[in-house]
Amino acid sequence: ITKIAVLTSGGDAPGMNPCIRAVVRTAIYNKLEVVGIRQGYQGLIDNNMYEMNTRSVSNILNLGGTILKTARCLPFRTDEGMETAYNNIKAQGIDGIVVIGGDGTFTGALRFSQRFPDIAVMGVPGTIDNDLYGSTYTLGFDTATNTVIEAIDKIRDTADAHDRLFFIEVMGRDSGAIALRAGISCGAEAILLPERATAIDDLIESLKAGQFNKKSSSIVIVAEGDKSGGVYDLAERVRGQVKFYDIKVTILGHLQRGGSPSAFDRILGSRLGFAAVNALIAGKSQMMVGLEANHIKLTTLEEALTQHQFKLEDDLMQMSEILSI
Ligand code: F6P
Repeated sequence: ITKIAVLTSGGDAPGMNPCIRAVVRTAIYNKLEVVGIRQGYQGLIDNNMYEMNTRSVSNILNLGGTILKTARCLPFRTDEGMETAYNNIKAQGIDGIVVIGGDGTFTGALRFSQRFPDIAVMGVPGTIDNDLYGSTYTLGFDTATNTVIEAIDKIRDTADAHDRLFFIEVMGRDSGAIALRAGISCGAEAILLPERATAIDDLIESLKAGQFNKKSSSIVIVAEGDKSGGVYDLAERVRGQVKFYDIKVTILGHLQRGGSPSAFDRILGSRLGFAAVNALIAGKSQMMVGLEANHIKLTTLEEALTQHQFKLEDDLMQMSEILSI
């Protein structure tokens, strides 16, 4: 390996910038050339790349988003798009790529490197959804959860002042990881998750019991992947059944993806970026670097994509119900 590229793809996640910084500086330390690709796979197709040096990544540890920009790129899914990308990579003399992103990004990386195995690829799990096998935590999950907590704490103030019931939708695609942890942290009265079915009658009964127990407000966190029909529909079904509470709905949306990365995500991004370059130097490819039991672990991209069961910790689910009575 003599020259590597780095790109961010899919939804941005806080911690991507610390990771880019680590990739660039680890590469330069090891006497590799390093190229930044703008806008993910789209930049590979458009030849939108630039040489990076140690100063290209100065003062970015604290920045949310990604200095390389990102995109969800449909043309990269086509044979023609991949070929154009390959030709641009070869013309630049690049022989390894670090791709930072989620499952869509890894699917593209795997297909590309199966077709063109002379280009080594190394994945870094960067998504707020925390939905990849092979890393207990993905980049951005911690910051996004903290952002959600901050927002829900504020909603609790006004809910309490007005004796209201709030339904709050949080991100996570098919994963309830953010919802569960935010729910525990904010003392949500109920947490609706894609990983388990929700009985609306039970939800109504438990909200009524809360009122009976003199709760002045209630918060129901609904993961966006929950299958009970959407947050507005849920609120309508509960309205009228739970007396005394005025019911409101809040969708937190993209504010959850922005913001300065937490200490955890800065350190995780640095560790994973450092490990990704070292793995490429060691001759690895078609793998993802992750963190398991506080140790760096390599998982094949294939496994990272297929082994995930969307399983949340049973003890956390049970505990959240008991602690919110
Ligand atoms: O994968 C990250 C994520 O924020 C999901 O939680 C959410 O479902 C999705 O991206 C939103 O995507 P977009 O920003 O393209 O609307």
